[in-house]
Amino acid sequence: MALPQHVPVQVFPQDFAWGAATAAYQIEGGWNMDGKGPSIWDTFCHAKGRVFENHSGDVACNSYQLWDEDLKCIKQLGLTHYRLSFSWSRLLPDGTTSFVNPKGVQYYNKVINDLISNAVTPMVTLNHFDLPQALQDVGGWKSPQIADFFDNYARFCFKTFGDRVKLWLTINEPIIYAKLGYEKGLFAPGLKELGTSVYLVAHNMLRAHAKAWHSYDAHFRHEQKGKVSIALNSDWAEPLDPSLPGDVAATKRYMNFELDWFTCPLFGTGDYPESMKCRIEAQNRELGFTGGERLPKFSEDEPKPLGTADFFALNYYTSRKVKEMTSCSSEVSLAGDLGAERVMDPSWPVSGVSWLAVVPEGLRKLLKYIKETCNNPAVYITENGFSQVGPVELEDSDRCQFYQDTLLEVSKAVSKDGVNVRGYFAWSLLDNFEWSDGFSVRFGLFHVDFCSTECKRTMYRSGKEYKAIIQRHGTNIKVESGKGSK
Ligand code: GAL
Repeated sequence: MALPQHVPVQVFPQDFAWGAATAAYQIEGGWNMDGKGPSIWDTFCHAKGRVFENHSGDVACNSYQLWDEDLKCIKQLGLTHYRLSFSWSRLLPDGTTSFVNPKGVQYYNKVINDLISNAVTPMVTLNHFDLPQALQDVGGWKSPQIADFFDNYARFCFKTFGDRVKLWLTINEPIIYAKLGYEKGLFAPGLKELGTSVYLVAHNMLRAHAKAWHSYDAHFRHEQKGKVSIALNSDWAEPLDPSLPGDVAATKRYMNFELDWFTCPLFGTGDYPESMKCRIEAQNRELGFTGGERLPKFSEDEPKPLGTADFFALNYYTSRKVKEMTSCSSEVSLAGDLGAERVMDPSWPVSGVSWLAVVPEGLRKLLKYIKETCNNPAVYITENGFSQVGPVELEDSDRCQFYQDTLLEVSKAVSKDGVNVRGYFAWSLLDNFEWSDGFSVRFGLFHVDFCSTECKRTMYRSGKEYKAIIQRHGTNIKVESGKGSK
């Protein structure tokens, strides 16, 4: 009988961040309270027919009014770090600094101060999908001006909260925002402008990020001594049939169009990967596309993206098997440019939502890939989690196993592959509004009763498991025998 694997000694650095993450629109509610302006997610949900059973984040976990309850959860888990996002339009109702909402400032000041007085380090995301509607009305992330609006907002936040917040993320997951919001129409603002806007939106997000990083560097870093990065989401990809050169090449493209799209400008050449440029140009020629350049160029006259990540912020959820795409379409699209199909490996268990194959060893491989392709950066895993759908199980043993397996893989990335992992943030502290899936999908370490006005929070068994892992600083993580990577 194989013995269970253990992590006997401490491999995580002494100051390792043990965290959990949330995002404003997913937990806060109070969508129009105390002077908050609307965001594109308010508009999207109120339009009906967009989200599972027309759920919305109008109330969500009501964290705007129940922050004290969230703080109790954070303390119960023994977290050292908490990742939250600011609602841009709660602070600046029309998205610009022409009017600051004092109640918004007061709310986030309380959250930050409470965290710090409880020895919990805040990590703040400035924009987690919820762009102020007023800025959408003037072109949103497609408008070149958005980079300046974002930079002004970022400077305002650095100035107001940067004496206490030392870990900043500018933008959450540009790829998901651009792809689901502008290519697939599943997220706000709900557009399907195939093969064009996705590149423009991602480009403007990178420009905005770079501007804000340079602002911090020039005006705040010296005094505040914090760090600024951008949260990038990536799957890990492997060829469906490693003996087929077409599948191997498609897998490489998959990583190019998933992660390298952002890491090349930030950590590599300062520009988009050559392979992406070539594919897009080839598709333009093949399909006779004459609508102008689809992949924008970085201007020489603007702050450069290269070197603008003080650490690597990685959101990882799943892995894919990839094969060469055989069908071709008549119009340009992101999928056509990619020319690869993703396939679920039937041996990978699926957690709750259909897209989430549970592959903890994919995280270790991705961490190694990042070490090798991004010059060995310090890495925070800023999101990773496991969802439940259907009847709620407070005794969520599958999720307990998931956290054990995953953290064992992370520990191997540290001890065996030498990846400089500095922290891990579970997604999520609470069950919350899971975007187009509404409240039907639950990722929390705490169950939230959305039917009661108190939105009662109850710790899942996985919360207890995570708490125990934190208490042991990641030592003695057990996995079922035979599982996991060597
Ligand atoms: C991420 C997103 C989170 C959360 C998570 C689970 O893409 O940043 O807000 O929803 O996925 O699906």
